[in-house]
Amino acid sequence: MGALLEVEDVVVRFGGVTAVNSARFSAERGGITGLIGPNGAGKTTCFNVITGLQKPTSGRVRYRDRDVTRWPVHRRAKHGIGRTFQRLEAFGSLSVRDNVRVARDIAGGPLAWVRPSGRGSVEIDALLDRVGIADHAEERADAVPTGTARLLELARALACDPQLLLLDEPSSGLDETETEAFGALLKELAGEGAAILMVEHDMDLVMAVCDDIHVLDFGQIIASGTPAAIRVDPAVQRAYLGYAETDHTTEIQAVPDLDLEVAP
Ligand SMILES: Nc1ncnc2c1ncn2[C@@H]1O[C@H](COP(=O)(O)OP(=O)(O)OP(=O)(O)O)[C@@H](O)[C@H]1O
Ligand SMILES: [Mg+2]
Repeated sequence: MGALLEVEDVVVRFGGVTAVNSARFSAERGGITGLIGPNGAGKTTCFNVITGLQKPTSGRVRYRDRDVTRWPVHRRAKHGIGRTFQRLEAFGSLSVRDNVRVARDIAGGPLAWVRPSGRGSVEIDALLDRVGIADHAEERADAVPTGTARLLELARALACDPQLLLLDEPSSGLDETETEAFGALLKELAGEGAAILMVEHDMDLVMAVCDDIHVLDFGQIIASGTPAAIRVDPAVQRAYLGYAETDHTTEIQAVPDLDLEVAP
């Protein structure tokens, strides 16, 4: 049996722009896979191809050993492909709790990612508690801090009971403490069997939590490997040095300084 997700030679062209160029990578159950690369490298476009929002010009997406390339978005979601968005997509006028409730009502079915399992509000509050935003349950989604809104995105994705969870820049807007807690939560979810594929610019977080990393540059995978291998890869350093000239927030740090102890 192959990996849970396999992206095979995917090409996406927008007119003259080749956003994704023969990309090939996979994500495994129980693992956190990083998909990194400079702005405009094609990361979000890859996510759109995997979730069905973007039809690839060529190539295939295999999920649970089935070719899902032609499946519509809702069918993929129903079979366990969940995601968060780079731009926050919550319903602003609804409370944090109701945002999760709506996602849960649409998805239905069992919910694996909370303990204790329950029904209705119990289950939703357990989920809010798990991602650390229970204190904000009654607040309107458009009134909470960005960090909380990011975690709400995660709760909404988890409410759909994903087996494969795609996270597009999930830590942007989180402070350092929130990022550490977030990294620990991702480790826990992977430990419970989720396959997590994460696009992220926070290199400390990526290096600390990912089992495998794929690096995209101008639509092509230029390197794949463990954090230790990626950190010293010359092609990756070249891609990032070019990027660092315009954005000094993205530099590959030698030593991740996150403390990711998972509570017993
Ligand atoms: N719908 C579209 N129509 C035309 N061009 C697009 C479209 N979506 C993305 N692109 C282009 O495709 C390339 C890849 O974009 P994409 O959003 O996938 O990059 P990204 O790696 O997610 O970047 P970022 O880190 O800034 O989020 C960019 O050149 C972008 O301008
Ligand atoms: Mg993007």
